[in-house]
Amino acid sequence: MSQKKRRLTITAALPYTNGPIHIGHLAGVYVPADIYARYQRLEGNDVAFICGSDEHGVAISMKARKEGTTPQQIIDTYDAIIRESFRDFGISFDNYSRTSRQVHHDTARSFFTTLYEKGAFEEHTNQQLYDAEADQFLADRFVIGTCPRCQNEEAYGDQCEKCGASLNATDLINPKSTLTGSIPVMKETTHWYLPLDRSEAFLKSWILESHKSDWKPNVYGQCKSWIDDGLKPRAVTRDLDWGIDVPLEEAAGKKLYVWFEAPIGYVSSTIEWAKEKGIDWEPYWKDEHTELVHFIGKDNIVFHCIIFPAILKEHGGYILPKNVPANEFLNLEGQKLSTSKNWAVWLHEYLEDFRDMQDALRYVLTINAPETKDNDFTWTDFQARVNNELVAVYGNFVNRVVVLTQKYYEGQVPQPQVFSAEDRALLEEIKHLPSQLSQAFEQYKFRESAQIFMGLARSGNKYLADQEPWKLIKTEPSRVQTILYVALQVAAALAHLGEPLLPHSSKKLKEMLNLKADTLSFESISAANELIAPNHQLGTSQLLFRKIEDAEIEKQLEKLRATDASSNENQQTHPPVKELINFDQFSALDLRVGTIVSAEKMPKADKLLVLKVDLGFEERTIVSGIAESFDPASIVGQQVSVVVNLAPRKLRGVESQGMILMATRADGQLEFMAPENQTENGSLIS
Ligand code: MF3
Ligand code: ZN
Repeated sequence: MSQKKRRLTITAALPYTNGPIHIGHLAGVYVPADIYARYQRLEGNDVAFICGSDEHGVAISMKARKEGTTPQQIIDTYDAIIRESFRDFGISFDNYSRTSRQVHHDTARSFFTTLYEKGAFEEHTNQQLYDAEADQFLADRFVIGTCPRCQNEEAYGDQCEKCGASLNATDLINPKSTLTGSIPVMKETTHWYLPLDRSEAFLKSWILESHKSDWKPNVYGQCKSWIDDGLKPRAVTRDLDWGIDVPLEEAAGKKLYVWFEAPIGYVSSTIEWAKEKGIDWEPYWKDEHTELVHFIGKDNIVFHCIIFPAILKEHGGYILPKNVPANEFLNLEGQKLSTSKNWAVWLHEYLEDFRDMQDALRYVLTINAPETKDNDFTWTDFQARVNNELVAVYGNFVNRVVVLTQKYYEGQVPQPQVFSAEDRALLEEIKHLPSQLSQAFEQYKFRESAQIFMGLARSGNKYLADQEPWKLIKTEPSRVQTILYVALQVAAALAHLGEPLLPHSSKKLKEMLNLKADTLSFESISAANELIAPNHQLGTSQLLFRKIEDAEIEKQLEKLRATDASSNENQQTHPPVKELINFDQFSALDLRVGTIVSAEKMPKADKLLVLKVDLGFEERTIVSGIAESFDPASIVGQQVSVVVNLAPRKLRGVESQGMILMATRADGQLEFMAPENQTENGSLIS
């Protein structure tokens, strides 16, 4: 049964050119987007996989000032590094553009003009911080001062990085301009606002009603809480030097807000690509049958799910995203990744240190992807996954099959004889795999897809170990023909099915098996009775993966120690150890596993959430001081450890019937103490 070809416009967040790409960007956005795009192409669908550099915005001007250079220099430097590292890593964009290109300036300005002419904007004049010495209005990041909450003297105009408070520049005590050090004054300025409140009804029905069940809970939850909080007008222009000129005479010197124009970069990049190919770009953005999918990190949700759709809708004629599979964050060795603090594994450096090992990183970032919660990347886990899974299972299996076939049959696929139950079971497993993988890909469950794929390699590896063809070759040579024939079918399936997940090793494996470079759709793999036929001549064997030595890991850890992220605010002073207790006191505690089934903000309390927790034997209400670390919607479904025999107490009128255990990280963020794997509610913790 062959289905009609689909058309997909797949976008990956445009990276800021104020730094190189790191593993957090890869795990959150580019690896999943690339797997999805490769899979859709294999299925024969019409795919435009679109990206480009995001080259405006304050982060870039700041970086230029800090390095004593121009924004143009900065973007040229990082655009080149990013572009090259994506290419070498194998991210298969159909087009990678830049928002500094003319095509984007034109497209963004025309969007603004269309909306302006439709009366979609409101004009507001108000007071903003201004540096008289520099003759410039000050973006939030250009103002520092004392945080009203924690007294940190270097809080930014939009946020205090020490206590995490989100601030307005006017909240700061003793504000100072970072441009000149002078004290900012208030000055009147006029800007154009997108009245998001006018889009409320549309967003409510489009997101809250139509996408309740098909968007990821973290994405849906964030959207819901934005909409429930009430949408407010958002300025789409700024008083800045660096950016795209607002196409209005009365706005001379003003620029489009970067979050207004950057997403339009997806459209400009598509236009550039289509022009180059000599095709029409419009179906990719305007045909209602086209599926638009945005891959982003969780900090971009509001822009892609609320603001950009509101812009597209006001403009008219454009399709809206079908899905926005945003990921959570990846941490590195227990700490938040940070470009400015250099706490990262940079892609271009990885590619130098681990030549031809793109798939090793792809695999680890996928099997440990932060799909439903933040995850941690550690170098020792990287080493273990590569050595114990890629090398010892997938690589070992393939190597044995090919080497034995060379040895016994001069590299020709043997003729199978009688199939045993084990043979048939394994051949059957191959047939089921394509649809399982398809389902995982279509549902953006890339972690699961990697597990399914490795499951087949594992079955193949176990099959060889159980059948021991090397022992039978003398006594039962005809049985060995069947065993290697079956194992070769598994190897061929891995070569085809691995293309989206591990494209570099798939290509190598196809060469080893001397399979045609062209690709097979998943459907035809599952329909085929045979993926590699008797008498087919294999190619030469090569190693698919190599082992990672301890010294290589030590070198990476050393590099991280040298950047010394703990020399800054992250430094943690450990509180003294409490007084000793005896064993009875310890065992008096009753600790259980539970699952949060609902979470709501406690009215008028910044820190408190009211949680309902399923303990298996009963459901409890627990008031927990975690509101500053978690968005209520994002923690529904989270497993937790609960003290269940703590005397209940009332907090703001709500009886709290237990306590949830949390760890405090060096950066002040809270983490749930949850079982590693899904565990039955009510299970004892001891
Ligand atoms: N540059 C932004 C970031 O890194 C993402 C921009 S996505 C776009 O967070 F849609 F605006 F382009
Ligand atoms: Zn603070």
